[in-house]
Amino acid sequence: MKILCIVDPLERLGLAGDTSYALMLEAATRGWDVWTCQIEHLGLTGADAVADACQTSVVLAETPAGAFRLGARQPTRLADFDAVLMRKDPPVDVSYLHATWILDHARGKTLLVNDPRGLRELNEHLAVLRFPALTPATIVTRSADRLRQFQAEQGGAIVVKPVDGYGGLGIFVVRDGDPNASSIIETSIGAGTRWTLAQRYLPAAVDGDKRIILVDGEPVGAVLRVPGNAEARGNLHVGGRAVRSELDARDREIIAAVAPMMRANGQILVGLDVIGGMLTEINITSPTGVQHVSRLEQRNVAAPILDAFARLAATAKA
Ligand SMILES: Nc1ncnc2c1ncn2[C@@H]1O[C@H](COP(=O)(O)OP(=O)(O)O)[C@@H](O)[C@H]1O
Ligand SMILES: [Mg+2]
Repeated sequence: MKILCIVDPLERLGLAGDTSYALMLEAATRGWDVWTCQIEHLGLTGADAVADACQTSVVLAETPAGAFRLGARQPTRLADFDAVLMRKDPPVDVSYLHATWILDHARGKTLLVNDPRGLRELNEHLAVLRFPALTPATIVTRSADRLRQFQAEQGGAIVVKPVDGYGGLGIFVVRDGDPNASSIIETSIGAGTRWTLAQRYLPAAVDGDKRIILVDGEPVGAVLRVPGNAEARGNLHVGGRAVRSELDARDREIIAAVAPMMRANGQILVGLDVIGGMLTEINITSPTGVQHVSRLEQRNVAAPILDAFARLAATAKA
C-alpha cells in the first residue's frame, strides 16, 4: 500500500495523542509507503488531483524531529496512491472546502478517507439532528430571544456551540441565574451574524463524553473523556482525562442508526460523541482517540483501521 496523509505541519503534531501519527506509524511498521503533505500542497493538473508531497519515514519517537524524516518534495498524482487520508484538523473553512473540491477529482482513482463530498455534506454538529430520537433537544438560531426561550423550556440549563466549532472551542454552559448568560448568548450569535446551536444540558457530561471510533461503520474502540476540575468540556485538547470504556446497548443502537449514513457518504473513519446515551457530535474531519484506546486497552487500534483501509482500497478504483 502507498498512502498519502494530508496533515497539519508535522512539527506541530502532539505525538503522544495524535491519531494521524498512530496511523502513519502503523502503516510504516507494515512496510507501507507513506507520503505526507499539507493542504496547501494540493492542486489540479487538468482534471487530475495532484500534490507536492514528501515520502516520509515514520518511527516511534517522542518528538516530530525524531519521528519523521522527509524525502524531497515531489509532484505526485493522487491516483498513484492506494489511499489518501485527509487528516487536516478543522476548522472547516473556505480553504478546507476548496481542498475538498480538489479531492473530488481523485474519487474513483484512490480510496478517500474521508470522502470529500461527505465532508462537505455533513456538518459535525448538525448531522446528529438527522437522528432526533438519539439526540438531546436542540435548536439552531441567530436569535438571542429564541435562545433565551429555549433555555427556559429546557429547565434553565443549555449548552451553546458555534456550528463550525471543534475541540471544545466556543462551547458554553448557560444556566439560569448566570449573570453572564445574556452576554454569552450575544457573543455566541455575534449580534445575529452567526448561527449558534443550543442543546439541552446533559448532566451526564460530568461523568464523561464517550468517543466511539467507527471504521467503515464498525466500532473499533471507545474511550470516555472526563472533564477536568472546574471544566464543562470533556475534550482531550482542553484537559479531558481518557478513561477506559466499553460499548453498551445504547451505543450499539446509535451505531446501528448512524453507520448506514456514514457508509452512504463515504465516511470511513468517524468518531461519535455520546453523552449520557445521547449522540451529540459526529466527527468526520480528523477524528481522534486511537492512541488513547490503544494505551488503555493495551491493543493496537490502528491495526484494524489499516486493515479496513487495505480492504476498501482494493475496490476503490472505479
Ligand atoms: N448537550 C450537552 N450537555 C452537556 N455537555 C455538553 C453537551 N454538548 C457538549 N458538551 C460538552 O462539550 C464538549 C464538546 O462538545 P461537542 O459537541 O463534542 O463539540 P466539539 O466539536 O467542540 O468537540 C463535550 O465533550 C462535553 O463535555
Ligand atoms: Mg466533540
